[in-house]
This record gives sequence, C-alpha cells and structure tokens, in this order.
Amino acid sequence: MKNWKPNSWRKYPVKHVPSYENEKELNQVLSKIKSFPPLVFAGETRHLKDQLSQVVDGKAFLLQGGDCAESFAEFNPDNIRDTFKVILQMSLVLTYSASLPIIKLGRIAGQFAKPRSAPTEKQGDKELPSYLGDNVNGIDFTEKSRRHDPKRLFKAYSQSASTLNLLRAFSNGGFADLKNVHLWNLGYIKKSPQAKKFKELEDKIADALAFMDACGINSDFNRRLKTVNFWTSHEALHLPFEESMARIDSTTGECHATSAHFVWIGDRTRQLDGGHVEFCKGIENPIGIKCGPTSKPEEIAKICEAINPKNEKGKITLISRFGHDQVEKFLPKLIRRIKKEGLNVIWSCDPMHGNTIKSTTGFKTRPFNKVLNEVKNVFAVHQSESSYAGGLHIEMTGQNVTECTGGAKNISEQDLSSRYHTHCDPRLNADQALELAFLISDEIKKNSNYARNAIKAAS
Ligand code: PEP
Ligand code: CO
Repeated sequence: MKNWKPNSWRKYPVKHVPSYENEKELNQVLSKIKSFPPLVFAGETRHLKDQLSQVVDGKAFLLQGGDCAESFAEFNPDNIRDTFKVILQMSLVLTYSASLPIIKLGRIAGQFAKPRSAPTEKQGDKELPSYLGDNVNGIDFTEKSRRHDPKRLFKAYSQSASTLNLLRAFSNGGFADLKNVHLWNLGYIKKSPQAKKFKELEDKIADALAFMDACGINSDFNRRLKTVNFWTSHEALHLPFEESMARIDSTTGECHATSAHFVWIGDRTRQLDGGHVEFCKGIENPIGIKCGPTSKPEEIAKICEAINPKNEKGKITLISRFGHDQVEKFLPKLIRRIKKEGLNVIWSCDPMHGNTIKSTTGFKTRPFNKVLNEVKNVFAVHQSESSYAGGLHIEMTGQNVTECTGGAKNISEQDLSSRYHTHCDPRLNADQALELAFLISDEIKKNSNYARNAIKAAS
C-alpha cells in the first residue's frame, strides 16, 4: 500500500457519507479531532487480530453485539454497564457450551453513523433529510434537528472516549470477575418452554465454577478470572471522521483506525471500487464485511483479496445477513467461492438485518424466532459445507426494551410501543439476548466439535 493515505478514499465514489453545508466548519471539527488522542492503541488492535486468527482455525468464537446506533439520549453509565454485563453473560454460556474462548467485541464506543434507505423522510406533507445517526443530525423531525451539524462529530468522539473509559474500568476493575458474571437473573427465561434445559445448563456452569473454586482456581489465584479483554467496533461509514482518527503507529510505522479495534463495511457500502473499501485497504485493523442477498460471491472474494492481499488470518470477518429463509439460497455459494480461492476468513452470522419487518402496529421489529432460525440455518449450512461458523453478530441492549417480538416473555406487536427506544433498528433486550445464547448452545457445541475434528484431520 505504498501510495495509500488516510485520505485516498476521497478519489473514489462513496455512498452514505453525509454532505455538510459548511465545509469550513466541518474541517475545523475534523482538525480538532485529529489533534485529540486515539481511542484505542495499535498494540491492542494487533492483540485482537491475533485472537481472531484463532477463530479462523476453529479454536475460538467471536461474539459481537451492541446497539444498532448509539445515541446521545441513551448515554448513561447504567446502559453501558448493562450491555457489557449481558455480553459477558452470553459469553459465559457460549464458553461453556463450546469449550472455546469467546472473543468479546462490542458494537459500542463509536457506533453512531447509519446508512439509510432514503436520503429524505416524509411525514404528512413535510419532507426533511433522513436521520443519519447522532454524530450527524438529530432524530427529531424538525428542520433544525435534521441539519447536518459537524459539532456532533466531536460530541460522539467524546461520548466514545467516556464509554471506552468505563468499559476498560469494568474489564479490569473487578466487575468482570467470573463469580459475579454468573449472578444472572433468569426470571423470564425460567418461564419459557425450554426452562428445564436452561436450568440444567445453568446448574452445570455453577457446578463447574464451584469445582474450580474448590480446587483454588478462582480470581484470587488467577487474575485472568477477574478481568476480560473487551474490544470495540463500529461500521466505518463516516469516512471524514475515520480519516481524522487514522494514525500512524510510532512503534511500527503502520496505519491504524484508532476509532475502534475492529471496524466493518456495511452491506450498502462494500463496492469494490468505492471509498469505503479503499479506506479499509490501508489500515491494519481487523475488518468486517457484511454480506447480504445482493452480494456476489466473486465480488466478496475480490474485496477480501483487496483488503487482505497477504491472506492474513484474523484480518477479515465475513458477516452474513441473508434473512432466515434466504440462508440456504445464498450462503453455500459464498462459502464455496471463498474456499475455492483459499481465502482465510472468519464466518460470522448477523441474524438481525435480514429479518426486519414492519409490525401491524407500525414499528420496525424482528421476531425472535426468525432471529433464532437464521442462526440455526447458518450453523447447519456451515456444517454441511464443512466450514466453521465462528461468530455471532447481534443488535442488543442490556435494557428491558420492547423492540423485537417474541422470546420467553412473548413480546407482542401491541407491546412494542411500551419501551421502544432504539434510534435505528430494533434490538434484542437483555432477556432475549441471554435466551438466544442458551438456545444456540447445542448448535455451538456441535459446531465446535466439528471444528476440533476438522483441525485434527488436517494435522
Ligand atoms: C448495521 O449493522 O446496523 C447495518 C446497517 O447492517 P447492514 O450493513 O448489514 O445492513
Ligand atoms: Co442495524
């Protein structure tokens, strides 16, 4: 990447990058951000990439989750704590089921910018610019709020810094101690038809922890049981912002996106000759690529080669999001193509974005069962294609919202209005997210057995 620069993307066509009325004001904000500290350190990003290379080999599993869009309104320490807690609890269930380390990656501390299906939104006779995320404009349907305001970029940067600061404190300060993580509240889940199975799994995890404790293997004995590695990620959509956060690592001379450890390219901006792919070619971070029904296998393979010419393990995560009933149609062809080219990728499943519907009560929602089915179908396809389903990518929150229907609490379309807080897509609430982890534990187990056998056969 000899001629690549953080601003090279500007020579390429870009979609979903907001325009601003006042260029000068935008550039002032970007220069200020450029002079502020990076949010993450290049050494951390290398550590994550190294861990991700284990997923490629079937020796670890990636769990990525958080808001569809973070917002200024929902920014408070309890929300950060609760999302973090649910991700740790899901990880514990998955670790136990898979007997594999789980890499914990939040869609947090920078997940603001959103691509939208239309540039404008109409309500009655009034038409205004669409809401593009709190780092660009406001969600209120007024002219003032929908104006693209560069100052919001700095507010989002500051919020990301505070969020990350608290996450680092939680990860290392004792909150993530294994014996605390297990103190979950399974209230509603225990009323589900699967309650007996959940109770059994919960008991087994408690027994395993008690056994370890009796043997003296606890957090007093080993600090690793008290701390976790928790990484951050977001869609690298707002390229002017990402450019201002791209920094040269003084220890290696390499360029890193320092806005997060991991960034991904969305399903709408992954054009091979587009600015988003160009930007990701030059940064050292691990990169996700969302693959929806319009993605062509040969094109995805070319994007992987362009971003990862050395075919480094852990560099690329392909995040499939076809929809529960489209998985069989699209995923096998994609897997075969990637295999044929010999490309090293992590296969992650986003069961959210292909299963969004409009409820009869007018809300964007996702039926829990469809989400669950997409995960099951993806795992089944990987098994029949002899490949390893190594990750799960979900939109979730630690709060008790009512945005996705179904789950043990059986949220109905009528219930959605009661606590519908998302600024963009509907998220699984804390109960639904943990329930999903329990419900896929069998698939995860089969899948990891498969991975282990495949590794044995290859060696
Ligand atoms: C998202 O992850 O919020 C998103 C917009 O996804 P996709 O690019 O897969 O549509
Ligand atoms: Co979303």
